[in-house]
Amino acid sequence: MADYKIAPSILSADFARLGEEVVNVLNSGADIVHFDVMDNHYVPNLTIGPLVCEALRKHGVTAPIDVHLMVKPVDRIIPDFAEAGATYITFHPEASDHIDRSLQLVRDSGCKSGLVFNPATPLDYLKHVMDKVDMILLMSVNPGFGGQSFIPGTLDKLREARKLIDESGYDIQLEVDGGVKADNIREIAEAGADTFVSGSAIFGKGQDSDPNGYDSIIKQM
Ligand code: DX5
Ligand code: ZN
Repeated sequence: MADYKIAPSILSADFARLGEEVVNVLNSGADIVHFDVMDNHYVPNLTIGPLVCEALRKHGVTAPIDVHLMVKPVDRIIPDFAEAGATYITFHPEASDHIDRSLQLVRDSGCKSGLVFNPATPLDYLKHVMDKVDMILLMSVNPGFGGQSFIPGTLDKLREARKLIDESGYDIQLEVDGGVKADNIREIAEAGADTFVSGSAIFGKGQDSDPNGYDSIIKQM
């Protein structure tokens, strides 16, 4: 059986109480902290940078931090995130002029590397770099915002990515991001995903008023 991981996206957390929110969600059974970095250039939204990643580490967060870069260019910021405590650093191939170099830079910085595919981006970019990725992230919404609906065509794309991974023989995580909820996660897992990003379905339901409030929603996943 696959080793399934839940990665709450802190994009939907209460930023004024971010440390507390992250600790609560991890204590409720989440495995990975999904950290969305947006630059108001590659995507039309602006979020958080390495200082916030470092602040979470200083707050005592030891779980893996999965930095999803939605910025362009990517190379300049990769070492800063590595130093700030990132575990994974993933980026969109369209945002790098030299994909192989950027993937190598992530690994040379001591992090796990990954490529992120927008709904309309083909998996072809993987062809010559399968040996350089630790994670493949399929976007099941267009990047930039939480709370959007899962695009159903992602299921076929997941099956395609799963096949590529299995045939490659490499140990690569297959992550899905966007519109993942307790009521569609099973179908998404059956299509081949093993790591599930979920933002609005976990945060923002009012569970945050109770320190154990995330338990029930994460247990349903
Ligand atoms: C969107 C981000 C996602 C987002 C997912 O660009 O990459 O991580 O937070 O949010 P939900 O789960 O609400 O679709
Ligand atoms: Zn994300």
